[in-house]
Amino acid sequence: MSVVQEGTDLYWDPYEIDLNMDPYPLLRRIRDEAPLYYNERYDFYALTRAADVEHAFVDYKRLINGKSDVLELIQSGIDWPKGFFIFEDPPQHTKHRGVLSRIFTPKRMVELEPDVRAFCAQCLDPLMESDGFDFVEDFGGLVAARVIGMMLGIPERDQMAIRAHVEDNIRHSPRDEGEIDMGNFAGDLYAEYVDWRVDHPSDDLMTGLLNVEFEDEEGTVRKLTREEVLTSVTLLSGAGNETTAKLIGWTGKLLSDHPDERRRLVEDPTLIPDAIEEILRFEPPGMQNARYAIEDVEFEGGVVPADSVVVCSMASANRDERRFPDPDRFDVGRKPKGHLTFAFGIHFCLGAALARLQGRVALEEVLKRFPEWTVDDAKAELVPSPTTRGFKTLPVAI
Ligand code: HEM
Repeated sequence: MSVVQEGTDLYWDPYEIDLNMDPYPLLRRIRDEAPLYYNERYDFYALTRAADVEHAFVDYKRLINGKSDVLELIQSGIDWPKGFFIFEDPPQHTKHRGVLSRIFTPKRMVELEPDVRAFCAQCLDPLMESDGFDFVEDFGGLVAARVIGMMLGIPERDQMAIRAHVEDNIRHSPRDEGEIDMGNFAGDLYAEYVDWRVDHPSDDLMTGLLNVEFEDEEGTVRKLTREEVLTSVTLLSGAGNETTAKLIGWTGKLLSDHPDERRRLVEDPTLIPDAIEEILRFEPPGMQNARYAIEDVEFEGGVVPADSVVVCSMASANRDERRFPDPDRFDVGRKPKGHLTFAFGIHFCLGAALARLQGRVALEEVLKRFPEWTVDDAKAELVPSPTTRGFKTLPVAI
């Protein structure tokens, strides 16, 4: 197959951390000039248009998750532990996701609202007398860790250590650099809590996972194995900590950069849910997810051949002018339909309702106390990662 960008200077290195500062101009060029991009050095294809990214996510039979959804992890060829279902395909994926959706329900998430609000107040009230604070370290990161920690049943004293561990273990390097620590997927960190819960049941998700019965893909009615419980806890804790903290960080940054939009929210707080949706579109905490093609798959720009990896850029899809008019304009009243921040199809983010709830409540509580703030851009620091994009530290003056 001819590679579309041949003869141009178009080059995208997802491991080039500096590009992370502002990937959007390059992504726009790729959308226009190479709708099916190929990178020879790292041997991957990339889709950047909203319609193509969405099609890829829908086509789960030919574009699989079973080898992982991260470029270098797919290329590592590792077999993932059973129950880490974001890296599974049907029928296992359907079974494991089904079990979790029975105990991790939207109703359960909604019931958390008063607790989320209380956590936000606990973080923000002591800051009211200060000149400023860190939107991620003093606020977003703490709220995200406490909410998922509380749901899972992780003791409060350990929640921050777990968040630090999750954050430290985000991979930054291509396949041939740096070891992949399997303990991070198998749940070593949570073994002690899970084993303790066996004899000390509570009303948390860990207890739910230990007790739930389901029919597995072989037709046997059984409980989850210890391995499956551990991997499910690991998946939820990883997914719930890192991404939501980044959503709250982007909220701080974007509203500092767009004070007129912030004023609209102070004057009319009913716009806050729409504002969160626009923040999710504009700066998705997860920039891209990859798939492995088990057959040739045709897209607008060409064919992704069997046995190759295709990176699907949600960051690009969300700025695709074919789907969103004037996509680089941040507009809290936009009500963006069809952004791909939570992916699409069978792997659609299971925690989307919880993330939206935390984003909304966090912003409501911030605006009640601080109608204005300014980010110190010289001191703000992005996490150096090719896949997730968001702030490690985001100091603001109030
Ligand atoms: C702003 C915050 C969040 C973002 C941007 C986000 C994004 C995503 C994306 C893009 C996927 C799909 C990955 C793929 O298709 O390969 C996903 C899956 C998932 N997310 Fe989230 N997520 C967020 C918050 C959460 C939270 C709070 C939880 C739970 C506590 C969570 C749990 C999950 C799980 C369990 C999956 C796997 C679903 C499956 O494979 O069927 N996420 N998330």
